[in-house]
Amino acid sequence: MQRSRLVIDLGAIRANVRRLAEAARGAEVMAVVKANGYGHGAAPVARAAIQAGATHLGVAQLAEALEVRAALGADGRGVPILAWLYELDANFGDGIGQGIELSVSSAVALEAIARAARTAGRPAVVHLKLDTGLGRAGAPRDRWEDLVRRALALEAEGVVRARGAWSHFAYADDPGNPAIAAQIEAFAEGLALAARLGARFEVRHLANSAALVTDLPVAYDLVRPGSALYGLSPIPALAESAALGLRPAMTFESFLLLVKTVPAGQGLSYGHTYVTDRRTVTGLVPLGYADGVPRAASNLGPVRVGGRNLRIAGRVCMDQFVLDLGPDAGEQDGDRVILFGPGDFGEPTVQDWADATGTISYEIVTRLPAHLERVYLDQGERAASAAER
Ligand SMILES: Cc1ncc(COP(=O)(O)O)c(C=O)c1O
Repeated sequence: MQRSRLVIDLGAIRANVRRLAEAARGAEVMAVVKANGYGHGAAPVARAAIQAGATHLGVAQLAEALEVRAALGADGRGVPILAWLYELDANFGDGIGQGIELSVSSAVALEAIARAARTAGRPAVVHLKLDTGLGRAGAPRDRWEDLVRRALALEAEGVVRARGAWSHFAYADDPGNPAIAAQIEAFAEGLALAARLGARFEVRHLANSAALVTDLPVAYDLVRPGSALYGLSPIPALAESAALGLRPAMTFESFLLLVKTVPAGQGLSYGHTYVTDRRTVTGLVPLGYADGVPRAASNLGPVRVGGRNLRIAGRVCMDQFVLDLGPDAGEQDGDRVILFGPGDFGEPTVQDWADATGTISYEIVTRLPAHLERVYLDQGERAASAAER
């Protein structure tokens, strides 16, 4: 297989959804497929998640929601997609007509959505968002009451349906952090206030992956896992994927485009930040930062080739990097290279790449561009067969 490609194990996605549904203790699962399904491909992941029991989808941008809706076709019929970001002058009518539900944090956004709903002649379905302490989106507590009241007035007018209420954690990946309990309490208070005002939310949701895998008692009606859906540990400092019952779904593989012998003292790649200390064999991999391989992985990124794990030698360029295969390397042009996989055969994982480059697994996968070929394996097939070598 002399190609660069991402191999996505949909069986792993399904198994992860089931594992998360168990942790959700009866709450339903909203599969978070923003950023092209964390790089895995939004529509195939969404389809697999729905097959495994997810009842909702979540994305960031309204535009993404519309794309996912169109790509799913009949497979997504009746599945609400929540979008939590949009331009204020977005064409909300498109979303309203397509069963896209919209998060609302402010009166300004609510009125813009209501105007579009009046024009569309059908109510916009909204989830009111409360900032319980993350300090990001969500109505601040002193504006929550006004937001709920206005949403209820628009509901009475038939323009809006206030279906959901929700919030998001700042520290769910840090069990025991006092901010967690404070946010849980603030959410409960916000819901109680809304109930006193007459709100009857069908779905209340707070839990992300970290909240689920650490068993926080906050499942409410819906849970919103992202990273865990893809088999990535949301709490890597505490537990690897396998310890959480999760299986990484993605394998990133490529090949040696050019194998050659170079003398001792040969600098490799731009700036010669790696210089060979002996006559050695190098291998050129046709992937670079334009393909999602972080430049920060220069001299650091772990790569499996020929049954051993090496580190990138020298700088990652825009579209290629080099490996020092060693003086006795038996590799040939065309041999397979694994950047990361589930780790079954000792190959590096997404988390290893995150650790090597000082970031989080989320960033490694979401930066993988759309132009990379994605191949989908279904249940039963082997995701990382190449890594066995
Ligand atoms: C609002 C919201 N909910 C849920 C998620 C899913 O988070 P995670 O991938 O940590 O499960 C995200 C992702 O960042 C998010 O922004």
